[in-house]
Amino acid sequence: MIYVNSLEGINDEQLDTGFFHGWPSSPPVNKFYEILNNSTYICLALDSETNKVVGFINALSDKVLTAYIPLLEVIPQYQGRGIGTELVLRMQEQIKDYYMIDLLCDESIQEFYLDMGMTRATGMMVRNYNKQSGRT
Ligand SMILES: CC(C)(COP(=O)(O)OP(=O)(O)OC[C@H]1O[C@@H](n2cnc3c(N)ncnc32)[C@H](O)[C@@H]1OP(=O)(O)O)[C@@H](O)C(=O)NCCC(=O)NCCS
Repeated sequence: MIYVNSLEGINDEQLDTGFFHGWPSSPPVNKFYEILNNSTYICLALDSETNKVVGFINALSDKVLTAYIPLLEVIPQYQGRGIGTELVLRMQEQIKDYYMIDLLCDESIQEFYLDMGMTRATGMMVRNYNKQSGRT
């Protein structure tokens, strides 16, 4: 597995591997590229044999105090091999100098993040499901 922190040399075909699995209305691959391109920090996991992206994490930041991690995903065929853990660790390294690092997740996955030094919190959110495939 190869891990990179930039989109340099990455094309839509490499990203078109089935991300947003299970989303009723998922962003198309060009929107996925935009999400990564507009993120402050990213880390991608590439299968070194196929040169395809099989996992990613992104963070948005004000570049002074805060960083927020909105998305983390490993495509189903590659899950359970430590890739998700590696992506979180590599993102934590990129954003370690910020005061606030936030992430929202389901209770069922809190153990995963607790293992990486994060703590439980409460939060608030809005989800506009009619915009799930991206802002138009
Ligand atoms: C969450 C996710 C990124 C983990 O990626 P992964 O590559 O499978 O993770 P790892 O192989 O590094 O697993 C690390 C540990 O977390 C546990 N874990 C992984 N996914 C989990 C989940 N959904 N719920 C609870 N525990 C989970 C694993 O059992 C593993 O524990 P172990 O080492 O004791 O076996 C992946 O399951 C995924 O993409 N899920 C769908 C999207 C998602 O839920 N993203 C998180 C949004 S907050």
